[in-house]
Amino acid sequence: MNRRRFLGAGLASLGAACGVPAARTRGAPRPVALAGERLAALEDVRRLAVEHADPLLGRCRYVTHLGTRQAAQPILLARRGERFDAVIENALPQPTTVHFHGLTLPEAQDGAGFDPIAPGARKRVRFEVKNRSGLYWFHPHPHGFTAEQVYGGLTGLLVVSDEDDDALDAGLGLAPGNRLALAIADARVAGGVIRPYAPSVEDCLHGWLGNRALANGRLDARWSVAPGWVRLQILNACNARGLLLAFRDGETRLPFHLLGTDGGLLAAPRELERVFLYTGERVDVAIDVSGRRALAAVSLEFDPRHHTGDAAPRHRHPGRAQYAPLAPVTVCESGGAAHDHFADGAELPLFRLVVEGSAGTKPPPVPQRLSSLPAAMAFADAPTRRMRLDFDERAGFLIDQAPYRIEENAFSVQRGAREVWEIKNSPISMPHPMHLHGFGFRVLRRRGTYGAARDLATEPGGRLATDLGVKDTVVMWPNETVWLALDFSLPDEAAFHGAQRYMLHCHNLEHEDGMMMRNFTVL
Ligand code: C2O
Ligand code: CU
Ligand code: CU
Repeated sequence: MNRRRFLGAGLASLGAACGVPAARTRGAPRPVALAGERLAALEDVRRLAVEHADPLLGRCRYVTHLGTRQAAQPILLARRGERFDAVIENALPQPTTVHFHGLTLPEAQDGAGFDPIAPGARKRVRFEVKNRSGLYWFHPHPHGFTAEQVYGGLTGLLVVSDEDDDALDAGLGLAPGNRLALAIADARVAGGVIRPYAPSVEDCLHGWLGNRALANGRLDARWSVAPGWVRLQILNACNARGLLLAFRDGETRLPFHLLGTDGGLLAAPRELERVFLYTGERVDVAIDVSGRRALAAVSLEFDPRHHTGDAAPRHRHPGRAQYAPLAPVTVCESGGAAHDHFADGAELPLFRLVVEGSAGTKPPPVPQRLSSLPAAMAFADAPTRRMRLDFDERAGFLIDQAPYRIEENAFSVQRGAREVWEIKNSPISMPHPMHLHGFGFRVLRRRGTYGAARDLATEPGGRLATDLGVKDTVVMWPNETVWLALDFSLPDEAAFHGAQRYMLHCHNLEHEDGMMMRNFTVL
């Protein structure tokens, strides 16, 4: 494919939407099959309060004020091209931000932590949704406090729809209620209560892991669906746990179709029996539940390949000394008290679907064309930028040996440039879900994958099934080198003019707070 053709296809595929007139489509159709009491239109949000709901246990929540009503922990809906314009109020005893993960945003609206909102303060945030249909999400991003606040319950979903999304729902013949947007997290639960965030030094190294799954904040969550296709858009919202997602009816594992990834729909569906997603990643899947009474979504056991020996680096979060934790506990300072949690890779039940009503006619076949996403191809003449993920016995996990400094700029990129990023993970390491702000990207190939991770590499170029789509977060197994294709085009609009700072970081939230993050600038 030559440069010109890729440029045309690339812009659409990378979600930057430049040149595509983002028509205002107020009153445009919402996904009617989407279930849930907590749905709210992004455009209707006037105020977004970040509340400290339970100071004893450190629980927090988002409350949206929508004019006449309010919704706690809402699932926001937007049509591509719609706008968000709201005041964010920080009612936490710590600084916070609201970062819309996966959206194409200018630095000033990205909530990346350069300019946190102080306790008791407020900030107006406004932007237009430029991205393709898909599941995006929002969460706090104040450096040093992100993991604690996300674990405290601050995870919100944003479902973006467009014409491809409408066509897919129609093609699947989705019954009302047969589409769900789900955030899966894990928590340390004892006596039915979610315990506060109190990681030991070891937890800060491997990440804070729980013993129970929460689906949209609920333990033992279940949804009723009708026979036929069910479409699930699923976010791994855990602080640190990978999910090897599968569906079971009793002991039988059920096939499903992967429809989309972080940045929207694939070109064509991919039939699978399991799919791997690390923290921050999303999948969009369709499963036929006809003839079933109930099915269980589980994370299957897998070899997580944490190879870090006995190292016990201690993190110092520069900002933390000034603010109390969300619950009366210590963070990353305790001597490693034994908490109740399962290792990464342990089997974990996630949620259940209960099928109600009798099967009518056979559901239609899955549409074979989902979007106009082109195949990912190397940019023949794009320069390569090389990075390494390192493990340091004293400092922990780092990018290019450099612990995060908020004022540092690791490198600059020309606006509109295309680059290939070659990122190599150390053999002494663990999986790192690497996340980029501002831009979606494509995964070109993987090399050096070994052990159980090889079985997940089912696609050409040693890639995972999730590598087929637009990504903003990509898992890197120990010893792997991953090549990414990036297009640094930004919309030609005033909000994006001038240098824009973004970041690359690990979305294991303990690694993110623990300095595995770097800033870069688009000039
Ligand atoms: Cu989901 Cu920089 O974050
Ligand atoms: Cu992000
Ligand atoms: Cu990491």
